[in-house]
Amino acid sequence: MSGIEGKVIAITGASSGIGEDAARELARRGARVVLGARRTDRLQQLVAGIEAAGGTARQRALDVTRLDDMQAFVEFATAEFGRLDVIVNNAGVMPLSPLAALKIDEWNQMIDVNIRGVLHGIAAALPVMQMQGGGQIINIASTAGHRVWPSASVYCATKHAVLAISEGLRQEHDNLRVTVVSPGVTTSELAETTSDAGIRAWLEDFRQVAIPAEAIARAIAYAVEQPDDVDVSEIIVRPAASPN
Ligand SMILES: NC(=O)c1ccc[n+]([C@@H]2O[C@H](COP(=O)([O-])OP(=O)(O)OC[C@H]3O[C@@H](n4cnc5c(N)ncnc54)[C@H](OP(=O)(O)O)[C@@H]3O)[C@@H](O)[C@H]2O)c1
Repeated sequence: MSGIEGKVIAITGASSGIGEDAARELARRGARVVLGARRTDRLQQLVAGIEAAGGTARQRALDVTRLDDMQAFVEFATAEFGRLDVIVNNAGVMPLSPLAALKIDEWNQMIDVNIRGVLHGIAAALPVMQMQGGGQIINIASTAGHRVWPSASVYCATKHAVLAISEGLRQEHDNLRVTVVSPGVTTSELAETTSDAGIRAWLEDFRQVAIPAEAIARAIAYAVEQPDDVDVSEIIVRPAASPN
């Protein structure tokens, strides 16, 4: 199946920011979207909005740190629509702090959501896609997968890991399209996961140039809409006004 129309697309972390806008954009272009996150009130509102606009959407509570939950999410998508064409592993958190602050719980949270969450998405979707004879896995990394900033070491490490995992996955499969979308600073709720007051103030300034989440949604749609034999391996989308 080429293009976007009719594809079954599961999106993790669809309750805000990039995931929410990707859901709207893909549904507007005819995809059947299956949306997961922990804040189901947000997902319900989003599904209602998509369906009111003539689209097709479903939602299910999802914690990407739990493999069983991710498997149930993918099973829900296939039970609703009979197949899974694309999974967008988008859920992420970014509690930044200097390493010396020893916010070890936050390091673990980033590892659990940003790395394990992506691996769980792959583990849940890959068997379904192999059985179907193809599919597409889109992992949301970051420009933080390409460089490192002080106070962002662990976050950057998780995004470097997403790039490495995606590249390995791509090389291991001929009938699977693997795409990394690496956003630069984008308007969303991501900075709210940072608890360090000093870093939050710095982030406010750093994020002044943010581009709207629709820009990342369009990049995701571009990767999806290519013909089956074309794998857009990575797209970096950043503010024109940002050196990062
Ligand atoms: N915004 C940027 O500047 C930027 C730049 C580069 C990369 N990114 C990446 O883009 C992705 C989306 O982030 P965003 O910017 O759109 O931020 P956001 O508005 O904070 O969205 C993050 C999403 O992840 C979900 N999430 C967090 N923990 C989860 C968990 N355990 N299980 C399921 N869902 C979980 C959140 O939903 P619930 O809280 O409802 O579960 C939310 O829907 C992330 O991977 C982020 O690292 C963002």
